Amino acid sequence: MNITIIQNEPKLFNQKFNFESILSSVEHSSSDIIVFPELSTSGYFFQNRNEVAENAISKENAFFDKLQTLSTSKNQTICLGFPEFEIVNGITKLYNSAALIFPNPQLKYIYRKTHLFYKERYCFDEGDTGFNVIYDKDKNINIGLMICYDWRFPEAARTLALKGADIILCPSNLVTELWTKVMPARAIENKVFLALANRVGSETIDTETLTFNGKSAFYDTNGNVLTSFSDEKTEVQEIEFNHLKSRNKKFNSINDIFEDRRVNWY
Ligand code: ACM
Repeated sequence: MNITIIQNEPKLFNQKFNFESILSSVEHSSSDIIVFPELSTSGYFFQNRNEVAENAISKENAFFDKLQTLSTSKNQTICLGFPEFEIVNGITKLYNSAALIFPNPQLKYIYRKTHLFYKERYCFDEGDTGFNVIYDKDKNINIGLMICYDWRFPEAARTLALKGADIILCPSNLVTELWTKVMPARAIENKVFLALANRVGSETIDTETLTFNGKSAFYDTNGNVLTSFSDEKTEVQEIEFNHLKSRNKKFNSINDIFEDRRVNWY
């Protein structure tokens, strides 16, 4: 199994540029899975709901049809973040979402970010999907999704691992450094693979600048980083891994980190 991590630099509010950049990256990659950062179709630093509404797309958007066609023809699973709108009973809902598009169109899945970071609070509705794992029978792989600030909550990765994730994909737009200390722990404590696609560049609105610090990473089930992304350049890296290793939760000949949990004490 191999995976391509895209560390890109979306242009804020420039959907045409971002769509083309994503499609071109998919066309040029031949791995089993490709993962892009959070809000890759729009850029990140929204200030209010109106701005999101102008840039949001629904899961029926023709852009996803193009990605589905590519996914099926290339036999490649595609994961990317995007601002999503959905109209429910006449009310517009806005989510910071990630799409997971499989060669088999029936499996398509949308995750809506659970934990909203900073000004996302003013711009998006809280996600209502929870943390789910999708099983792709053709590749015999279980894929779980979380987005960026979900890293702060060990429950996110734990839930995905308990639901059987072999790998967690984490589209991100990270602006602090703290995550580098605990993201490997999310992989170690669950014995899962974890692919984090972060972006680079900065966005300035009025007097406030957010700088996205790259360093995208792929962690093995012992938290080792198998990648070396820079903190400021766009980059693409492909990594090979044996996803079946994540199904063995043994620590040694006696301990199994899932069977050893004392759930009645938690
Ligand atoms: C983040 O959740 N974009 C930091």
